[in-house]
Amino acid sequence: MTDSAKPFWEETYKSEASTFSPEPNGTLREFEHIIGRERAVLDVGCGEGQNCLYLARQGRTNVDAFDLSLNGIERVRKRCREEKLSINAFTADLREFRFEKDYGLIMSFGTLHFVSREDWRGFILRAKEHTSPGGVHIMQIFTDTVPASPDIAQFAIGLAKDGELRELYEDWDILQFKSYTFEDEHPGVPKHTHASNKLVAKRKQ
Ligand SMILES: C[S@@+](CC[C@H](N)C(=O)[O-])C[C@H]1O[C@@H](n2cnc3c(N)ncnc32)[C@H](O)[C@@H]1O
Repeated sequence: MTDSAKPFWEETYKSEASTFSPEPNGTLREFEHIIGRERAVLDVGCGEGQNCLYLARQGRTNVDAFDLSLNGIERVRKRCREEKLSINAFTADLREFRFEKDYGLIMSFGTLHFVSREDWRGFILRAKEHTSPGGVHIMQIFTDTVPASPDIAQFAIGLAKDGELRELYEDWDILQFKSYTFEDEHPGVPKHTHASNKLVAKRKQ
């Protein structure tokens, strides 16, 4: 993402309104039960935090979340103060993020394609190394099956090839893989279509 242009969510993160769905991702809800409650969790590109907040509301206290956007992180922190939740939320760039511990769950929704293909692939390889045995990744990335929509075209520099995400996890157990398109809408942005891959994979014990 260039420094000169700002994506639409930077403004809306400052407001009380939800930019993206306020509900946790359905795949996270579906698989959360297989991740031991004490295990460390990392939300990569957490945005407004609906997914990490969901896990904290389930009573998890070992949750880290980062995003490039200070506006997004401040919102997560505010919500934590209001609801007396514990999340270690901080700003970081996934291209430079260096792991200081291993995680039982690493998840990323709608974020990886905002860095170059080389950068997100490198991040995933580092994340795999820092996942404990039996740990899980839930990763969702936009693909180039349809062109990037105008609202994100200048930022979505790393659209994946369909199926490329799955190939990176051939040495793990793939619990779910979906390739799909969906219609999306945000405040001030007309309805548009994204193509996406979503994967749930478990590191072998
Ligand atoms: C479409 S939003 C998705 C946010 C959240 N995961 C969700 O599902 O609602 C993409 C997020 O990726 C973040 N992002 C973009 N580039 C990033 C980078 N290099 N490192 C960390 N976060 C990044 C943006 O700031 C934004 O919050």
